[in-house]
Amino acid sequence: MCGIIGYIGERNIIDVLLNGLTHLEYRGYDSAGVALFDNDKVVVIRSEGKLTNLIDKVKGKRFTGSVGIGHTRWATHGKPSNNNAHPHKAGDVVVVHNGIIENYLSLKKELIKKGHKFDSDTDTEIIAHLIEDYMLQGMDFLKGVKKALNRIDGSYALGIICEREPEMLIAARNESPLIVGVGKNEGFIASDIPALLPYTRDMIFLEDGDLAVITKERVEISNQDKDIKRKLVNISWNQLMAEKGGFKHFMLKEIFEQPRAVTDTIRGRLNKENGKVTFEDFPLSRGEIKKLSNIYIIACGTSYHAALVGKFIIESLARIPVMVDIASEFRYRDPIFSKNSLMIGISQSGETADTLGAIRETKKRGIKLLSITNVVNSSIARESDGVIYTYAGPEISVASTKAFSTQITVLLLIALFLAYHRTGFSDSFYMDIIKEFVKAPHFMETILKDVASIEKIARKYVNKKDFLYLGRGILFPIALEGALKLKELSYVHAEGYPAGEMKHGPIALIDEEMPVVILAPKGYLYEKIWSNIKEIQTRDGKLIAVAFEDDHNIDEVADDVIKVPKTIWPLMPLVFTLPLQLLAYYIADFKGTDVDQPRNLAKSVTVE
Ligand code: AGP
Repeated sequence: MCGIIGYIGERNIIDVLLNGLTHLEYRGYDSAGVALFDNDKVVVIRSEGKLTNLIDKVKGKRFTGSVGIGHTRWATHGKPSNNNAHPHKAGDVVVVHNGIIENYLSLKKELIKKGHKFDSDTDTEIIAHLIEDYMLQGMDFLKGVKKALNRIDGSYALGIICEREPEMLIAARNESPLIVGVGKNEGFIASDIPALLPYTRDMIFLEDGDLAVITKERVEISNQDKDIKRKLVNISWNQLMAEKGGFKHFMLKEIFEQPRAVTDTIRGRLNKENGKVTFEDFPLSRGEIKKLSNIYIIACGTSYHAALVGKFIIESLARIPVMVDIASEFRYRDPIFSKNSLMIGISQSGETADTLGAIRETKKRGIKLLSITNVVNSSIARESDGVIYTYAGPEISVASTKAFSTQITVLLLIALFLAYHRTGFSDSFYMDIIKEFVKAPHFMETILKDVASIEKIARKYVNKKDFLYLGRGILFPIALEGALKLKELSYVHAEGYPAGEMKHGPIALIDEEMPVVILAPKGYLYEKIWSNIKEIQTRDGKLIAVAFEDDHNIDEVADDVIKVPKTIWPLMPLVFTLPLQLLAYYIADFKGTDVDQPRNLAKSVTVE
């Protein structure tokens, strides 16, 4: 997730670009840059690190032109650095981009053969070169852009300018947000509404496949080469509402971002046709994968719960034993490693001291380390032999939501990858998983369409003092995660338990005051869960069940039921997590706690 801004008009252009980037910094902050006209030439200024570094670089400078673009980056391809910062320039063409170009490697090879020289490791730079290449063949700027867009696969929101066209700003969108702001004799583009609110409230929301040509006088939009009219919307939000995308809290916004985050994390890595998974940076060779005898996964908090899901999936699909440990415990044990082990460290921030410490312990023993993290070039990423990034985008709320879903997504990709290399895909079961896997974002969207029913349940239980969360098998870690979310957000005591363990102790807690959230997917250990349900009912416990949409029996026995789309077991964690995140969110909101920054917690725990 990055932020892009663009302007054409008579205002002080550098102020518009920097002000816009300030409002977009929440989308990424590892480097930033601007490109704007000055005396008929395009000047590109970029800086690694926070936006303030760029602001310091341009302080006191004045520019004569009336068109420019800017970018604040959240690295995906290529670590944060000056060269990888946007805008990217090739010949006369300058581009800022938010998204992921899936076929950039093959296009890059093709362009290098033709003599193009690349300055960065980004996927974005190929777009500038591709347009330049078509212009070198004699096309004008607009034709060159259209031709280039036909060649690229993936997601993009683009702002493009050209030294030969000082009165034109081009914008294009596919699966990444992009808005055009309309003013009097001026036009804007931005990834999000807040960047434009100081200047205009009249906005056009581009749709997939749209290409907008913006001049001072007009905005012309086409899609598939056909001219098209899009509605001009007047935005009434205030600035703060706009930064949260109209949601009350960042957490709620991030919960709603999960379908997009999971899609981005799968994108370019999973071939839906043959089931093949590819990673840019996997630390083991094919031979080493074949010999792999066991995997250790370490993490903390929510990331630890993702690791527990990973154990289930990897053991079951790839048939490799997996041991999962809490990082702070692992580093003070004396674990036994075999020569052919792989260590996986999971951390949203990539900076958690306990995880970092455990990783360093393992490295001393000569074990290969793979990290799963959301932050490019974070400490954990730098110390690993290989990294797989989750493309969740910056997670601002302290309570982790979209990072969790994308971690599970990566673990499922790893399981499929290992299974492919060790067993091949002879079994149609694997292809069935892949077919269902690509539907996961859609399942999530279905749940998000009816949050009102979950809000209603939250209101009913808001004054309860203790909660029990129960799940079995692959949903036991989800019960743990549901309980953690409730604890950290609402300061209500909650415990996650494997449902089968209830009779070994926690059953003593159950009475009419105790709500039990039970994860009950029909067709998966259902008879066992049903026995737990009966045991809770007999003791007057209040039952909140999360069940499949076609399960009507559960309506008869549970006090409240949250229905989710039916899916197969490897995908259940992605589907069952959302209702629990929402339940915790609404309970906390009704209680009036500080949802985005709960007491005593920090987003990144960099102390032991
Ligand atoms: C989750 O909601 C928490 N805020 C916390 O448990 C978090 O997952 C943990 O501190 C690990 O963080 P990391 O993923 O950045 O390493």
